[in-house]
Amino acid sequence: MELDNGKKQQSCTFEKLKLVSFITLCLILISPADAFDPLDPTGNVTIRWDIMSWTSDGYMATVTLFNFQLYRNIMNPGWNLGWTWAKKEVIMAMMGAQATEQGDCSKFKLKIPHSCKRNPQVVDLLPGASFNMQYTNCCKGGVLTSWGQDPSGTVSAFQMAVGLSGTSNKTVKLPKNFKLLGPGPGYSCGPAKMVPSTVIPTDDHRRKAQALMSWNVTCTYSQFLAYKNPSCCVSLSSFYNDKVTACPTCACGCQNNDTCVTSDSKILQENTTKTHKTDITPKPLLRCTHHLCHVRVHWHIKENYKDYWRVKIAIINFDYRMNYTQWSLVVQHPNLNNVTQVYSFEYLPLLPYQAINDTGMFYGLKYYNDLLMEAGPKGNVQSEVLMKKDKNTFTLKQGWAFPRRVYFNGDECMLPPPDSYPFLPNSAHRLPSTVLMAAYVIFTSFFHFVVSLL
Ligand SMILES: *[C@@H]1O[C@H](CO)[C@@H](O)[C@H](O)[C@H]1NC(C)=O
Ligand SMILES: *[C@@H]1O[C@H](CO)[C@@H](O)[C@H](O)[C@H]1NC(C)=O
Ligand SMILES: *[C@@H]1O[C@H](CO)[C@@H](O)[C@H](O)[C@H]1NC(C)=O
Ligand SMILES: *[C@@H]1O[C@H](CO)[C@@H](O)[C@H](O)[C@H]1NC(C)=O
Ligand SMILES: *[C@@H]1O[C@H](CO)[C@@H](O)[C@H](O)[C@H]1NC(C)=O
Ligand SMILES: *[C@@H]1O[C@H](CO)[C@@H](O)[C@H](O)[C@H]1NC(C)=O
Ligand SMILES: *[C@@H]1O[C@H](CO)[C@@H](O)[C@H](O)[C@H]1NC(C)=O
Ligand SMILES: *[C@@H]1O[C@H](CO)[C@@H](O)[C@H](O)[C@H]1NC(C)=O
Repeated sequence: MELDNGKKQQSCTFEKLKLVSFITLCLILISPADAFDPLDPTGNVTIRWDIMSWTSDGYMATVTLFNFQLYRNIMNPGWNLGWTWAKKEVIMAMMGAQATEQGDCSKFKLKIPHSCKRNPQVVDLLPGASFNMQYTNCCKGGVLTSWGQDPSGTVSAFQMAVGLSGTSNKTVKLPKNFKLLGPGPGYSCGPAKMVPSTVIPTDDHRRKAQALMSWNVTCTYSQFLAYKNPSCCVSLSSFYNDKVTACPTCACGCQNNDTCVTSDSKILQENTTKTHKTDITPKPLLRCTHHLCHVRVHWHIKENYKDYWRVKIAIINFDYRMNYTQWSLVVQHPNLNNVTQVYSFEYLPLLPYQAINDTGMFYGLKYYNDLLMEAGPKGNVQSEVLMKKDKNTFTLKQGWAFPRRVYFNGDECMLPPPDSYPFLPNSAHRLPSTVLMAAYVIFTSFFHFVVSLL
C-alpha cells in the first residue's frame, strides 16, 4: 500500500511538473501572437495628435505618424489611419493628406467640410501633390521606412481643421477606435492617451511652439493577425555535405490551381505587363513551388578558414507581381557579434536587449540592390558574410552554424526542422542537435520574454 501511494504521489508531482512546463512553453510560444516581437520588443507605430490652435467652432491639429519599428517598413499602398469621433466632429479641411470619403455633409450650407464621416479614414497624398496641399513630411504615398534602415523616412504628418469639437481642453473629447490599415492587416492600436503638450520647433529652429493639448496612440504589429501562413521560408546547404535542405513543403500554403503559375504559363506573358500600369497593389502571382512562399532565403555555409568562416546568403523572389523596394532581412545567430565583413549588403547589428548581440539586419545598397525584383532571372539578391570565430563556441556540428531565426520584411520565415539540416560527415549524433537548437530557441525566447517584463 505504502509503495503504491508513493508511486501515486510521484506520478502526481510529475504530472504537475509536466503541466507547469507545458504552461511555460505555451507562454513562450503564445507571447509573439500578442503582438510581441522578441527581436524588436519596443517596436511600434506612434501617432501623435497635437492641437495647435482653437478656431471658432473647433481646432487646428497636426497629426504625426512615427514608425518606431526597427526593421518593418510601411510599404505601398502606405498607411491608412482610421478613427471614430467621440462626438459629432467633422473635418473641415486637411493639408498633406485626405479622407478617403466625404460622407454625408448635406447639413452644411456655407462651408462644406472635407469629411463628415463618423469614422473617417485618412491617407497620405501621393508624391507630386499640388504645392498648396502639401505639409511638412507629407506626400510620400504613405510609405514609411523602418527606424533601423533610414530614420529620416520614418515620419509622416498632416494638418487638419476639426469642427463641432468644442473649443477648449475641457470640451474636446479624444477620438476612439484608432485603426492603422493600408500596409495590410496586422496592426492593432491602443486607446488615445493624453500626454504632456508637445513642444515643436518651427521649421527654421528659431522658435519653439507648444501644442495646447496632445495625445498619443500606439499601434503594434502581429504577424499572426496579418497572415494565416508565413510568407517566406529558409533553405540550407553547406560545403561539407551535398545535401540541400529545402524549405518545408507547404511552408506558406499548399498548391492548388489558382494560387500559382508555372514559369511557362500564358498568364505571365499576357497579363503581368497589363497589371503593372493599372493596379497599385496587384494580387500576388506566385511561381509554383512545393513551399508556395513569396520569398525564399538561402543560407549556405561556404568556407571554414582558420580564424574565420563565410556564409553566403541569397534571397529569391517567387512573386511575379511584386518588386520589394527597400527590403530587409533580419537574422538571429550567436556569431553575429563578430561580423567582420558583409559584401554587397548593408549590415546593422540590432541590440534589442543590450546584453545579447546575436541579431542583425541586412538590407540592400542604395541604387544597387535595394530593389528585389519580381520573380524571374533578376528576382534575387545575394551577399556573403565573413565572421570571426570564437574558438569556444564555433562549431560546424549540430547545426550550430545555421540561423536561429530569419525575418524577411518584418515577417518571420519558416525554417526547416533541425533534424533535416545538412550534417557534418562522421558526426553521427543528430538527435542532440534538435534538442540543442530547441533549447537555444526556447532559452533566448524566454530570456527575451523575461527581459520584456522588466
Ligand atoms: C514605441 O517606440 C519607442 C521607440 O522605440 C519607445 O520609446 C516607446 O516606448 C514605444 N512605445 C510603447 C508604448 O511601447
Ligand atoms: C486646460 O488648460 C488650462 C489652461 O490652459 C490648464 O490649466 C489645464 O490644466 C488644462 N487641462 C487639461 C485637462 O489639459
Ligand atoms: C508621445 O509620442 C511622441 C512621439 O513619438 C513621443 O516623443 C512622446 O514621448 C510620447 N509621449 C508619451 C507620454 O508616451
Ligand atoms: C486543379 O486542376 C486539375 C486539372 O487541371 C483538376 O483535376 C483539379 O480538380 C483542380 N483542383 C482544384 C482544387 O481546382
Ligand atoms: C488577364 O487579366 C484579366 C483581368 O485582369 C482577366 O480577366 C483575364 O482572364 C486574364 N487573362 C488570362 C489569360 O489570365
Ligand atoms: C519592377 O521593377 C522593374 C524595374 O524598375 C520594372 O520594369 C517592373 O515593371 C517592376 N515590376 C512590378 C511588378 O512592379
Ligand atoms: C555587435 O556586433 C557587431 C559586429 O557583428 C559589432 O560591430 C558591434 O560593435 C557589436 N556591438 C556590441 C554592443 O557588442
Ligand atoms: C566577439 O565579440 C565579442 C563581443 O562583441 C568579443 O567580446 C569577442 O572578443 C569577439 N571574439 C573574437 C574572436 O573576436
